[in-house]
Amino acid sequence: MASYRIRQYQDKDFDTVRTLFARGMLEHCPAWYRHILRSARVQLQLLVLFVLVRAASGFWLLGLGAVALALVAIWLLVRAYSTAYVRQALSTDLADVRGTYLRSPHSCFWVAEAGGAVVGMVAVEPPEDPAERAVALELKRMSVSREHRGWGISGALCGEVLRFARTRGFGAVVLSTSVVQVAAQRLYENQGFRRVGPASSSLLTSLLCFQIFRYRCDLPGPAAAPPR
Ligand SMILES: CC(C)(COP(=O)(O)OP(=O)(O)OC[C@H]1O[C@@H](n2cnc3c(N)ncnc32)[C@H](O)[C@@H]1OP(=O)(O)O)[C@@H](O)C(=O)NCCC(=O)NCCS
Repeated sequence: MASYRIRQYQDKDFDTVRTLFARGMLEHCPAWYRHILRSARVQLQLLVLFVLVRAASGFWLLGLGAVALALVAIWLLVRAYSTAYVRQALSTDLADVRGTYLRSPHSCFWVAEAGGAVVGMVAVEPPEDPAERAVALELKRMSVSREHRGWGISGALCGEVLRFARTRGFGAVVLSTSVVQVAAQRLYENQGFRRVGPASSSLLTSLLCFQIFRYRCDLPGPAAAPPR
């Protein structure tokens, strides 16, 4: 049986959790790219591009070149968007994990350790939405190293977050994940989360077919008065 333990974040974990997070996010780029190319809307747009360039230039090859350029541009956009997201996280909450997550009674950060190395991570904090803030906590930054997937580590990390929220009297845990994070969707649904709708999206994410899903897990038992 694969063995690991869950413990609270310590300062010595700083570099590892940042790397773990960045790798976990950037690994979705190929899946996101494939997801875009499977979209009927995008396929139609590429076809229209081909027909227009072919008609305007009179050359098949130029039509094909335009489509190839569009495919490269889409890939670069996917990489740029993902990298910007990772950079933003690394320069905000993950620039000061202790300060962000370990100084308030309603936030926390755990890591999973196996063979003396940190191989998984998760955080919890109050959600940004004031309506949710009163009753729920938000699970964030879930990631498990590729070599340690399928061990049940993410389920144990999730359980830690749910227990933490329940013991503090919150009625639910919420989170966001994306259409291409299928293992994450499966994990959260197995843990009792249900999809409660799409999260807000920007024009760029709509163009790139990048739907964000909002999930919620209602906690059993009467929620105590929401902590102030
Ligand atoms: C999400 C993550 C933490 C899950 O880790 P894990 O639980 O060890 O991963 P598993 O391989 O056990 O997968 C979890 C579930 O998804 C399923 N799954 C994995 N890959 C899948 C795929 N490509 N398609 C469908 N289901 C998949 C597994 O079968 C498992 O379901 P099961 O328990 O019912 O069999 C891990 O995939 C990860 O770190 N991903 C990168 C970062 C990320 O996406 N984080 C989520 C942020 S919201």
